[in-house]
Amino acid sequence: MGVPHAERRGITARCASSAGLLWSTHQVDLTTVAVPHTLTHLKLLLPAAPARILEVGCGRGSLAAALADLGYRVTGVDRAAEAVKAATERGVVAVHGDVHDISGEYDVVLFTRSLHHAENLDGILEHAVKLLADDGQIIIEEFAWERVDHRAAGFLYDNRAMLVAAGLLDADHPSGDLLDAWIVGHNSLHQGAAMVAALGRVGTDLTTVTASILWRLVDGRGGTWIEPGTRAGDALDAMRVAEERRIGAGELPPVGLFAAVRR
Ligand SMILES: C[S@@+](CC[C@H](N)C(=O)[O-])C[C@H]1O[C@@H](n2cnc3c(N)ncnc32)[C@H](O)[C@@H]1O
Repeated sequence: MGVPHAERRGITARCASSAGLLWSTHQVDLTTVAVPHTLTHLKLLLPAAPARILEVGCGRGSLAAALADLGYRVTGVDRAAEAVKAATERGVVAVHGDVHDISGEYDVVLFTRSLHHAENLDGILEHAVKLLADDGQIIIEEFAWERVDHRAAGFLYDNRAMLVAAGLLDADHPSGDLLDAWIVGHNSLHQGAAMVAALGRVGTDLTTVTASILWRLVDGRGGTWIEPGTRAGDALDAMRVAEERRIGAGELPPVGLFAAVRR
């Protein structure tokens, strides 16, 4: 999937780790790569604007702002106070709290890389269903970490090592077997298959879409992008292109996952 080669803007924070909630005010803004990628896949699943969307785990609001620009009525919610403050400052309607605190009615409850953290997968999805209008949808953007094999772990960590060597990223290189390191770093998170199965229990018309995502996880487990970081977005985009080429050739598993169910 193509991503516009947009100008990389400024410095901001992002959820750097799939496994932790590491936020820093000193990380490079890579949302100019990530948001177009997400939108490309979401557009296959979303109803037409101006549908009402609740984004669970909105972070600093970059996706919510892009969806609002497309005409959607978006409310974000996130447990991270600093991220919600940043989202609000950029004009996103965002609530600091847990999705369980949210009431109201939405056409879409959209979990953006937040569902894998759920303490109770069925419980959070049952709450999400209660927030849906008739014919509303739950949509998730996720990764199926269990699909990572030796090839995928090698691709991720070798690219990480190159980014570190190039002076763009500060991150540890795992010692020992790379797949074992990946599993240890992620086995506290819900697997993609478990999230899809849970979606199937609360809704109908289950749709799943696979995608690349290793490029987005390359800074995970505490990695920090180094300033001046304008080249980091270009490097990340090159990794995305390489990952998608390998997925297309059957040389890497597609670890990215989008899924939707209807109420
Ligand atoms: C991995 S970050 C993803 C942030 C952003 N959506 C992205 O894709 O870059 C996960 C975010 O979900 C939020 N989160 C996780 N569980 C949540 C819940 N139950 N209610 C609200 N926010 C939640 C966390 O605070 C965190 O900001």
